[in-house]
Amino acid sequence: MTRAAITGLGTATGHRVVTNHDLAAVLDTSDEWIVERTGIHERRVGGSCLELGGQAAKIALKQAEIDATDLDLIICSTCTPDQVFPAVSNRIQNELGASCGAFDLNAACSGFTYGVTIAQAQIAAGMERVLVIGVDTLSRFTDWDDRTTAILFGDGAGAVVLGPSRRPDRGILSTYMGSEGRFADLLTCDFGDYIKMDGKEVFRQAVRVMVAASQRVLADAGLEAAEVAAVIPHQANMRIIESAMKRLGIPLEKAATVLETTGNTSSASIPLAMDAAVSKGAVSDGDAVLLVGFGAGMSVAAALLRWGQ
Ligand code: COA
Repeated sequence: MTRAAITGLGTATGHRVVTNHDLAAVLDTSDEWIVERTGIHERRVGGSCLELGGQAAKIALKQAEIDATDLDLIICSTCTPDQVFPAVSNRIQNELGASCGAFDLNAACSGFTYGVTIAQAQIAAGMERVLVIGVDTLSRFTDWDDRTTAILFGDGAGAVVLGPSRRPDRGILSTYMGSEGRFADLLTCDFGDYIKMDGKEVFRQAVRVMVAASQRVLADAGLEAAEVAAVIPHQANMRIIESAMKRLGIPLEKAATVLETTGNTSSASIPLAMDAAVSKGAVSDGDAVLLVGFGAGMSVAAALLRWGQ
């Protein structure tokens, strides 16, 4: 089967920095509490999905050295679209000057990894250039007077271009998409309302599904946890990442994180963390890299890949 490999990566974040100290000035909270319970120091807010997603997509296309007109498909993962319709992907397609098909998907914070999984299937079926964008503007749905949620979220975007790997041992090795709808009420946002969340229970279930999905893709690819060079997890809470890494038996140093400065950016968090890992030199050609996301739904998705093309 043809494997999909990442050939370009781009990111963007909200323009305005909101620090924990900014929040502590208006809410009954403190920098110490937020850092200790979440690992977040600041988040970036502002911008539309079109602006942020378009910006990230342009960087990814440039890095992949392809023109937008060469794209076969655009998949945009978002749970905070600018409009009910048209899809954000249609607007981004126009902004890029592409002429391919485009659609949005909503699997909350698992959406980027869902998108990568669908891209893999399309590339195996013959497509050559698929753009997957993860973008969310959760600040628009955050009650900034609610200290239990306002501390967590930020706005951002990340995009990757995927194409057939040039070497058979590079690219996506295995993928998993899961949903546990019985937990749908743990994390919700109704029309015209703000994010509502049972934080403690989301935390508990998140660790469980992340570990299960990760073990599944490892088993499907015939790899041991010890062979994983880098984990790029959804960036919701440092303690969730710590617990999951411990249960997987993978040292925490192998987890890429960016939430310290971005907060939870939902669909954007995995590509933002990937960008940080690449910039730090934490992933190199041939490395086994595990992407794992979870979110409202409760949705979960994982993808294991061999870095390189
Ligand atoms: N500042 C100070 N105190 C706060 C606070 C804040 N921002 N938010 C809550 N508290 C208080 C609570 O009121 C509670 O006080 P009490 O003991 O007097 O009742 C105390 O801190 C502990 O609250 P609790 O909810 O038990 O804290 P926690 O350790 O579970 O941390 C979260 C709360 C939200 C940080 C944590 O549960 C979490 O991150 N959950 C996952 C959420 C998530 O990732 N959602 C997105 C998924 S994609």
